[in-house]
Amino acid sequence: MNRAASQPEAKSESAKDVRRVSVLGSTGSIGKSTVDLLAGHRDRFTVEALTGHRNVQLLAEQAKALGAKLAVIGDAALYEELKSALSGTGIEAAAGTDAVIEAASRPADWLMAAIVGTAGLRPTLAAIAQGTAVALANKESIVAAGPLMLAAVEAAGATLLPVDSEHNAVFQVFDPAQRGGVARIILTASGGPFLRKSRAALATITPAEAVRHPNWSMGAKISVDSATMMNKSLEIIEASYLFNLPDEKVDAVIHPQSVVHSMVEYIDGSVLAQMGAADMRTPIAHTLGWPERIATTGQRLDLSGMLSMQFEPVDTARFPAVALARQAVRAGLGYPAVLNAANEVAVEAFLRGQLSFDKIEILAEQALQRVDIGRISTLDDIIALDAATRTIAENSLRTLQ
Ligand SMILES: NC(=O)c1ccc[n+]([C@@H]2O[C@H](COP(=O)([O-])OP(=O)(O)OC[C@H]3O[C@@H](n4cnc5c(N)ncnc54)[C@H](OP(=O)(O)O)[C@@H]3O)[C@@H](O)[C@H]2O)c1
Repeated sequence: MNRAASQPEAKSESAKDVRRVSVLGSTGSIGKSTVDLLAGHRDRFTVEALTGHRNVQLLAEQAKALGAKLAVIGDAALYEELKSALSGTGIEAAAGTDAVIEAASRPADWLMAAIVGTAGLRPTLAAIAQGTAVALANKESIVAAGPLMLAAVEAAGATLLPVDSEHNAVFQVFDPAQRGGVARIILTASGGPFLRKSRAALATITPAEAVRHPNWSMGAKISVDSATMMNKSLEIIEASYLFNLPDEKVDAVIHPQSVVHSMVEYIDGSVLAQMGAADMRTPIAHTLGWPERIATTGQRLDLSGMLSMQFEPVDTARFPAVALARQAVRAGLGYPAVLNAANEVAVEAFLRGQLSFDKIEILAEQALQRVDIGRISTLDDIIALDAATRTIAENSLRTLQ
């Protein structure tokens, strides 16, 4: 694996020094789990910056609890509220999109990129440009910018540490010295809340049903993505980029219990898996401690009960999103950004009650057919393509309602 960080090197004394960290999206599901780990290891980390978007009160609480130097709220209209919540603490307050990017650019040893959606793209790249070790939860940014992000990592001498439980699992069992012996990566998928529902029954799914994931507690967008299996689709693209493998070598398998978080199969038939509780604090702790290990503050896998594990193929007729991922990644740079942006528009519309659940992938597929990709060679090209896709997808919405 040459894209994400290579596996742990010999333990160095400096690795035990207190490390300076920042968290983008600290008020979200991944952000809160990260803050929980940082609170459990106060002696090992100092906090430079935390960012949220609208949840001022939680952001201020987190900044005070962790003694952060800077707290940034993305929504500029909330600046006064943040300033007043932090008054007398000595914690700097800032607001707006540029302030989030500035926070990401501050020197840090480790940064959690946990903003949801392509809104995380510029801040994540700003951290990469500083040569920071970036724990990447914000999958939409690598899906959209893939090779450009990896080139930026290379140029800055930064490190990418995968946080997505599947990619973190692969990272833990992928031996870069045996890259030539890797037959395939197998990403596990819980199948989400509608695994056994017929395609016809998906038409009437409500947002409340879609965000109720059976195994994981997550933000609304990724919960809907899990329910459509678009999440697995984005993850196939993410894995193909991160581990530098063609998508034919990235498979997905349904594993409803979410105990095995993913596997690497080698050509000799060996299959190495990483297991753990369905608690994001394990992969986050892995990246936070890397290249060492630190204790999780979350749940541990309980092997004392009757642990049963099932695996079954993904039914792509019921969940067509997986095929869209392969189509997009094979078509080349730009197409995954279109798939991702159209999906973001579709999920937001579904959550607002303006699009039925079974039309989410249809909107994404239409965008792949309709958007003119043009020539993509820079981050600005990706951002322009993301915006153009959103306009086309918003227009398609009207015909699909
Ligand atoms: N949750 C999981 O278990 C999980 C697992 C694997 C990967 N991921 C990935 O991790 C990322 C975060 O997921 P999540 O579940 O933690 O999402 P979430 O709970 O919705 O949190 C999103 C975070 O991003 C902030 N945010 C939203 N819009 C923003 C904008 N325009 N500019 C700046 N910040 C913005 C939110 O701020 P406010 O809340 O203050 O508005 C919040 O801090 C996603 O890319 C997701 O795919 C999540």
